[in-house]
Amino acid sequence: MDLGLKNHVALVCGASKGLGKAVAVGLAREGVRLGICSRSEENIRRAAEEIKRDTAAEVLALQADLSSADESRAFFNKALSHYGKVDILVTNAGGPPSLPFLEITDAHWEEAFHLTLMSAAILIKEAIPKMQEQKYGRIVNLTSVAVKQPILGLILSNALRTGLVGLSKTLSSIYGPDNILINNVCPGYTLTERVRELSEVVARRQNTTPAAVIQGWEKEIPLGRLGRPEELADLVVFLASERASYITGATIQVDGGYFRGLM
Ligand SMILES: NC(=O)c1ccc[n+]([C@@H]2O[C@H](COP(=O)([O-])OP(=O)(O)OC[C@H]3O[C@@H](n4cnc5c(N)ncnc54)[C@H](OP(=O)(O)O)[C@@H]3O)[C@@H](O)[C@H]2O)c1
Repeated sequence: MDLGLKNHVALVCGASKGLGKAVAVGLAREGVRLGICSRSEENIRRAAEEIKRDTAAEVLALQADLSSADESRAFFNKALSHYGKVDILVTNAGGPPSLPFLEITDAHWEEAFHLTLMSAAILIKEAIPKMQEQKYGRIVNLTSVAVKQPILGLILSNALRTGLVGLSKTLSSIYGPDNILINNVCPGYTLTERVRELSEVVARRQNTTPAAVIQGWEKEIPLGRLGRPEELADLVVFLASERASYITGATIQVDGGYFRGLM
């Protein structure tokens, strides 16, 4: 299937590792020109070198902490002035910490709000006027299966990601007439650095091993295993493509069947 992505420009956030990097690699393989960011200059530069080496794509690596509004805007605008357009925006960042509800301070709420909700809202607000001018845009937010089925240990994530889904659904209706398509992709348990770290946190709390924690998660997943980052990336690449021309306002999980509800 020709996805029609050649020479499109995509910004992929939080792309030095994990799911963001897998999405960047997937888009690069389709001939997309990339602007990618993460907090660490060294991490993002290394990721860009690897992606260029493996795919021969054009990759602009920029350092940006997306919990800062100024740095989020600077990332968008530097990439825009480099390429002259942005066709695709993939919002993503690290997840907020796993904490028991009674230990979550006001500062934790504030940080998680900026990282999880505001970073995406700011980038989408930058992107929409440009996408309106070109009458073309694809926005995909990487959220979590927690927006469909809350995960007990991830209270900040459960609370704030649903706000992003509400925002995206609203914007998909408002900007549909401009041919700007906005969707959410919800990873279930997918084996990345963050998930390895999460298994260590849970193991300490439950006085067990990270391997035992992961086995416990696998038992809750009908496909019996954690996902691979590329399996999530494949859906994001499709939604970013010309072929996904009639899908907007959708929230789709890639979770091996973990979510037990109907929709
Ligand atoms: N993996 C899963 O199973 C899963 C499931 C559900 C939801 N999610 C969510 O999906 C997102 C990605 O998960 P992941 O597993 O890929 O995590 P990861 O392996 O920890 O990768 C996170 C990426 O985001 C970057 N990043 C972190 N904080 C940032 C910030 N403030 N500004 C800019 N970049 C930042 C990191 O790079 P630097 O360290 O260089 O900044 C890294 O490139 C997270 O929000 C996570 O909660 C993941």
